[in-house]
Amino acid sequence: MLAFLGGTGPEGKGLALRFAMAGEEVVIGSRDAGRAREAAESLLELAPGSAISGDVNEAAAAASIIFVTVPYEGQRTLLENLAPMLAGKLVVTAVAPMSFVRGRGAVALEVDDGSAAQEAQNILSESQVVASFQNISAVKLMDPAVEMEGDVVVCSDHGEAREQVIGLVSKIPKLRGVDGGALSNARYVEQLTTLLVNINRIHKTQSMIKIVGV
Ligand SMILES: NC(=O)c1ccc[n+]([C@@H]2O[C@H](COP(=O)([O-])OP(=O)(O)OC[C@H]3O[C@@H](n4cnc5c(N)ncnc54)[C@H](OP(=O)(O)O)[C@@H]3O)[C@@H](O)[C@H]2O)c1
Repeated sequence: MLAFLGGTGPEGKGLALRFAMAGEEVVIGSRDAGRAREAAESLLELAPGSAISGDVNEAAAAASIIFVTVPYEGQRTLLENLAPMLAGKLVVTAVAPMSFVRGRGAVALEVDDGSAAQEAQNILSESQVVASFQNISAVKLMDPAVEMEGDVVVCSDHGEAREQVIGLVSKIPKLRGVDGGALSNARYVEQLTTLLVNINRIHKTQSMIKIVGV
């Protein structure tokens, strides 16, 4: 079972939708159990399958693979509270720290630990943190009629966990997981999301990435 903390937002809900479409059991986690229930019900309308809901504690307890899809600003408190429950589990973070500045558009935020993913791993010292899906458009994920296409860079200091997530990526048709090596590389992937957001504004589109030569 896959849990999505922040699964009421477009990125978490979109990923949950795509994995539900692939036959995976998903659980939507929210700070508010009612919001989670509404999100799970709307998923069931889009993809008949298995989608349940709970507050973030229930979702974290229910699954062995936990996706973190909350804004960067909310990550630390959320993960510090859940750290004991997430011990021994695989935690996938799609968090891309950015803010919006008038006249400049999206701007990547500096993170003391190097990246949101490294910060998550430092908080969750007993978990296997994998950075992935930061470059995947929520707008595209949320429309089941849209075929996803692109590469998903997967970074982690835990080799087996990295391989497991590369396998998960392949459950979404036409997406490819690319081994991005150590978690220290996650900062570049997170910052790339900021570039994609600005490209989207210029070209009025939902861009993603494809790496050639691999
Ligand atoms: N949107 C995209 O296209 C996209 C693409 C790639 C990566 N990402 C990354 O994915 C993450 C989620 O993006 P999103 O657009 O789905 O974000 P969002 O809609 O702003 O937030 C997602 C969910 O996070 C929870 N949340 C909000 N503030 C929180 C806080 N302070 N503490 C704990 N939980 C909080 C909320 O759920 P509840 O109120 O129900 O708890 C919310 O529905 C972000 O880190 C973003 O950088 C987004």
